[in-house]
Amino acid sequence: MGKDVIIACDFASGQQTLEFLGQFGEKKPFVKIGMELFYSEGPQIVRQVKERGHKIFLDLKLHDIPNTVKKSMNVLSGLDVDMTNLHAAGGSKMMQAALEGLTRPDGRRPILIAVTQLTSTDSETLKNELLINTPMEETVMSYAANAKRSGLDGVVCSPLEAAAVHERCGAGFLTVTPGVRFADGEVGDQKRVMTPAEAKKAGSDYIVVGRPITASEDPAAAYERCVREFVD
Ligand code: C5P
Repeated sequence: MGKDVIIACDFASGQQTLEFLGQFGEKKPFVKIGMELFYSEGPQIVRQVKERGHKIFLDLKLHDIPNTVKKSMNVLSGLDVDMTNLHAAGGSKMMQAALEGLTRPDGRRPILIAVTQLTSTDSETLKNELLINTPMEETVMSYAANAKRSGLDGVVCSPLEAAAVHERCGAGFLTVTPGVRFADGEVGDQKRVMTPAEAKKAGSDYIVVGRPITASEDPAAAYERCVREFVD
């Protein structure tokens, strides 16, 4: 599985998304469709983007009882997405059920990755609200190891955690990493960032890049810069 740049298409409408992707011409970047766009446009937006030749990471972070997750993953697999995700906090039975639901009759399935702890959850919240007394880093690594044991392909994590995840779960266990910024770019609300080149050195398998591309005056050039720094 090669390294790739995934563009986070955090747009409110399908029209905006398709106009944005039209700027890439013959290039067909891997795109991430998240909850906002999916809930506003429905499965149709996935079909439309797919028809234009893009690979899709459908970022819906499922977390429910195993039977519900299995059936929902079966629907997503039928949409022909290339990558999707769930919360590792749902436990190994839920993760295994998700894999069953995703697997198509020919045995193939989209890549399935887990969210460990959301980066918006701080150590205080972990301890005082989720009542988890294990330190954050150990919790994240333990959730990643549980995802690996359950048969998943990887985790979403910070590029700063990629090396530790590979050490714990193996080099082939994928790290899909947001929090990427150009060295001369704006950081915005991201706290801990790496450049595409640094993420490559850190061992990220896929970088998820939103605003440095979507808010750029020349998104195609910004995307090419990411590919040059991270993939080439
Ligand atoms: O615009 P930006 O590059 O910050 O976008 C990053 C994308 O990755 C957004 O879609 C954001 O929701 C997502 N993400 C993140 N941090 C996480 C998990 C997902 O930034 N821990």
